[in-house]
Amino acid sequence: MNVIYVKDSKEMSEKAASLLFSRMKTTEGQLNLGLATGGTPQGTYEELIKKTRAANQSFAQVKTFNLDEYVGLSEENHQSYRYYMNTHFFNHIDIPIEQTFLPNGMALNLEEECARYEQLIIDNGGIDVQLLGIGSNGHIGFNEPGTPFSEETHLVKLAQETKEANARYFNDQSEVPSQAITMGIASIMRAKEIVLLISGENKADAFAKFMNGTLSEQFPASILETHENVTVIVDEAAANKM
Ligand code: GLP
Repeated sequence: MNVIYVKDSKEMSEKAASLLFSRMKTTEGQLNLGLATGGTPQGTYEELIKKTRAANQSFAQVKTFNLDEYVGLSEENHQSYRYYMNTHFFNHIDIPIEQTFLPNGMALNLEEECARYEQLIIDNGGIDVQLLGIGSNGHIGFNEPGTPFSEETHLVKLAQETKEANARYFNDQSEVPSQAITMGIASIMRAKEIVLLISGENKADAFAKFMNGTLSEQFPASILETHENVTVIVDEAAANKM
């Protein structure tokens, strides 16, 4: 595992965007990016928009697969992850929107939607580079503590602490959906390369626990240490309990 220590979230975003940009430049043919939402990767998208524009680098050969989506929020809903991705990233680059995928949290049959999404990723050749954030309880995607490492894309009930942490994006905590569809740990681990971003003092306990290296389903991110190609980019605030 390659751990890169940086000063702040700006430097983390620059490093992450540089890595993604270099994969885009060196990949011949299609590149499949696994993408994440939340506050942490926002700066990475901004930097990648700037870099690709400056270099005239097209996203025509890129397909994107997001980790997760809330159940019951349409793409017009400002709190849906589809809305986040469109406004923070897709609307600013030349990617055809039909090459961008998220689980459909409005599907009538959610179990079928999970299976469809998993198969969609496989049929497209799998994910080349997966960008990840981490929840303060160690969740990745929406894989909460206790999720079996063997799970593929599935329906989850959000942990109370995740609902509280994500409430800042909603008018009121009661509006935070209680369910989501998420790629599973097994789906995430099939990515050829993983880039984990950790920023801010509210992630310091999670980073310290991550680095202590105990493999446990009670701390979902711990599985990443068993992946052969992981880069962790962590800023000073998140690393200060080491
Ligand atoms: C959400 C997302 C995760 C994300 C986490 C941390 O629960 N499903 O993918 O990593 O929040 O978000 P933030 O970066 O805003 O702290």
